[in-house]
This record gives sequence, structure tokens and C-alpha cells, in this order.
Amino acid sequence: MKISPFKIEEWMNLYEAGAMYDLTTTCIKPLTAAELLDLIPSGDTILNTPLSYGDITGSLRLKNAIRSLYTNQEYNNITVTHGAIGANHLVFYSLLEKGDEVVCIVPTYQQHYSIPESIGANVKLYFLKEENNWLPDLDELSQIVTSKTKLLCLNNPNNPTGAVIPNRLIEEIADFAAKRNVWLLADEVYRGLNLIGNPYSLSFADIYEKAISVGSMSKTYSLPGLRVGWICAREDLINEVNHQRQYNTISVSVLDEYFAHREKIHERNFSIMIDGINSFTEWLTNEPLVTCTIPNGGTTALVKYNNDIPSRELCKKFQNRTGVALLPGETMEMEGYVRVGFCAAGLRAALELFSTYLHNI
Ligand SMILES: Cc1ncc(COP(=O)(O)O)c(C=O)c1O
Repeated sequence: MKISPFKIEEWMNLYEAGAMYDLTTTCIKPLTAAELLDLIPSGDTILNTPLSYGDITGSLRLKNAIRSLYTNQEYNNITVTHGAIGANHLVFYSLLEKGDEVVCIVPTYQQHYSIPESIGANVKLYFLKEENNWLPDLDELSQIVTSKTKLLCLNNPNNPTGAVIPNRLIEEIADFAAKRNVWLLADEVYRGLNLIGNPYSLSFADIYEKAISVGSMSKTYSLPGLRVGWICAREDLINEVNHQRQYNTISVSVLDEYFAHREKIHERNFSIMIDGINSFTEWLTNEPLVTCTIPNGGTTALVKYNNDIPSRELCKKFQNRTGVALLPGETMEMEGYVRVGFCAAGLRAALELFSTYLHNI
């Protein structure tokens, strides 16, 4: 099977590891095992847990914890996966066949269009616009999504823009999809990270029967190293996913499952996020060579720079000169922009280096 290079992952493989400051990150200071053990009741029982396969589609404890993030879901509506990346992959392989029409709202995680393309689907991209605060416009979307469309993919809160779809618009999008009988893949890995109002947006899966919610421990709960994600959807879809899943998962690791907790992590993460967004906004106010619609959630911002140098060249030269890793917009089909992870360690210092660089290109 031929598939396009995953541009973000390739860039991060090359540039993230050696960076002095890593602005490519989408995570919020991942926890150490020691910090996590402090949070987990009777953490030492793990030492006596047999390192066997785990419960095939996820332990009851974990599924129960996942259910608590939704209002309207039972155990049979959930399956546990190798991160959200594994979840998305399984959804595409469970739903799509050659020739199916898929509409993908971009910018987003490249999986959402490159996997359907590789399956032979007819993929149409709908580009969010900054003048709409990076939110979907249903009139525009109705020019692209038709009753022939099988699947609509979106990501909320959005990576890379940090835009959060208001609940009212979530309901309208669900209604829009229902009227056209379209499946809706909602990649909700940043759900719980709204900076304004309730941190948790409505989940599409709670309000639309053909919506599939994908989540994980990586972003909202700062445990990307666990590789625990999930799919929440109606039971027949979960059954089909589990059928596909037999061929690539068996179970997630019992260690990963054991450590997958969220107690107190959310609270700790909010103080890091608020610190980050405040530093980022202050930098933005004082930096005339960039513009940005300030994120109202998630962990990333999409920054437009005032220069016509291609974003890959800009980021490469910047990192060579300063050691700071930054993600070129071209890797997300957004040339002329860079993505800044505003929860990154050393954010202020890294942004100052970026300013100095921009003023001396
Ligand atoms: C929108 C989105 N979906 C999925 C993933 C994959 O996350 P995970 O670590 O849970 O596999 C990412 C990672 O950056 C992401 O940004």
C-alpha cells in the first residue's frame, strides 16, 4: 500500500530530539513515572501484576474512566487503542473502501486525509479560514459535503490553530451531518483543554449517532508515552473496529493501562497552559513581524510570519542558528505559517530567540 510521507512526524523525527527548546511539541510537560505513582492510589501493586496480555478491548476500570468523559456511553461503545493515532487508523480501515467520498477539514492531523487517500477514497479538503477564526462555515461546507459523502473528518479543539468550536456550532455541525447521513470522525484528543468556559466541549459522539469520538491520554492528560487512546462510537461501529483491531493490537500493554489515570493531572495542566498562553499573548503583542488568532484551547497556535521565505527554510535556518525547533506550516498544508506549542518548556526564551531571528533574516 502506498501512502504519502507523514510530513509532521518526519519533521519532528529529524528536528525534535536535539533541540534546546522544542516549540514543535503538542504536549503539556509529560509526567514522570514517579509523579504518576504519587497520584495513583496504591501505586505499588503494579509490581505484582503479571505482565500478560491486557483485557482485549480494554479493562473495565479504564473503560469506566473513559465513559466518565462522555454523557451517554456504555462499555460496548468504547474500545482502547494504541494512542489516538491507532484509533484514527482503525476508524478509517473499518469504514472506508476504494471510491468512497471523504471530506476533511484542514489544517488537521495528516492521518485524516492521507490514510483515506491511500485506501483509494476520493478525498476533498475544506480549508478553515483565519478570517472565520479558524471555525468551519456551514454554508461553505455545504458546497463540498453532499449526500454522496461517506465520512466528514474534523479535529476539535484544533491542532494547529487552537480554535475551539463553540457548543452551538458543534450541534449545528452534527445536525448538518445527520441531514446528509454522513459519518463524522471527531478527533477530540485535545478535548478538556478549552481556555474559556467549560474546559470540556460537547463530544460529537454524545449528540450524533454516526459520530465517532477519538481521544487519548497524550495531550489533555500529559501521558503520551503510555500510548493509550480510545474510540467511542455506536456499538456496531465498535464491533467492526474490534474485528479490524484483532489484526494489529491484541491489547494495549498492562503497564500502559495501569498508569492511565487522570486524577489531578487536569488541574496541574491548566496552570501550565495559562502560563503558556499568557507568555505567548504578551510576545505576540510586542512582536510586529507576526500575526496570530489567539488560541482558545488546545496546546498550539498557528502563527503567520511577515516574510516570503518558505516555512521549511525558515524553521531549518532558525534551528541551525539557535537550537530552537519550530514546525513549518508547509507540513500542515499551511505555507507562510509556523506552529508554536505554547505549553513548551522554555517558551519565553524560545520566542525571544524567534523574534531576534525574524528581525535579522
Ligand atoms: C489531532 C491529533 N490526533 C491524533 C494525534 C496522535 O495522538 P496520540 O499520541 O494519542 O497517538 C495527535 C498527535 O499530535 C494529534 O495532534
